[in-house]
Amino acid sequence: KRIVVLISGSGSNLQAILDQCAAGDIDGQVTAVISNRPDVLGLSRAEKAGADAITLDHKQFEDRAAFDAALAEAIDQYTPDLIVLAGFMRILTKSFVDRYHGRMLNIHPSLLPKYPGLDTHQRALDAGDHEAGATVHLVTAELDGGPLIAQAKVAISEDDTVQTLNRKVLAQEHHLYPEVVRWFCSGRLTFAEGLPQLDGEVL
Ligand code: GRF
Repeated sequence: KRIVVLISGSGSNLQAILDQCAAGDIDGQVTAVISNRPDVLGLSRAEKAGADAITLDHKQFEDRAAFDAALAEAIDQYTPDLIVLAGFMRILTKSFVDRYHGRMLNIHPSLLPKYPGLDTHQRALDAGDHEAGATVHLVTAELDGGPLIAQAKVAISEDDTVQTLNRKVLAQEHHLYPEVVRWFCSGRLTFAEGLPQLDGEVL
């Protein structure tokens, strides 16, 4: 399977996926990595792994629609089976999301449906939650609101801060995201009519 990954920064989730592709654990290939920010670490990770590393700086575009159109054009050159958002910090237009309906994933650092949007760990701490985590979901037009595919949980202890929680959750993400991509590439995870199914069961 052909995978295109969209990033905005460090790309540690991207790295976890690249590593499993290289090891043969994921039956797929990251053919291109596209960043909306220039010079980020994730782009060097992509180059090192032999994927095309592309910068599409959103600031160079007049508006969201123009950026999304250029992004779609760049993506479509690779005819990907799967588009993976990994720390991609841009809100996408509905027409972009619809174009890739049923083949675009995102990872979000909360136990969705709790805390869509930003500052998830701070919000979990403020609420006195006892657990936090990360969720992989199918991307729909609603921000962080698509059907859930898989979650990883971590316990919140009394002395946790945003930083410690971020570290713990990110470590879980690095297992969770490659696992979901592996399911997709092996055919276990499908998205008929935009509904995620694992081994034929609706999630
Ligand atoms: C992760 O916390 C992910 O949940 C969020 O952005 C962060 C990406 O980190 N969407 P990285 O770029 O993969 O290191």
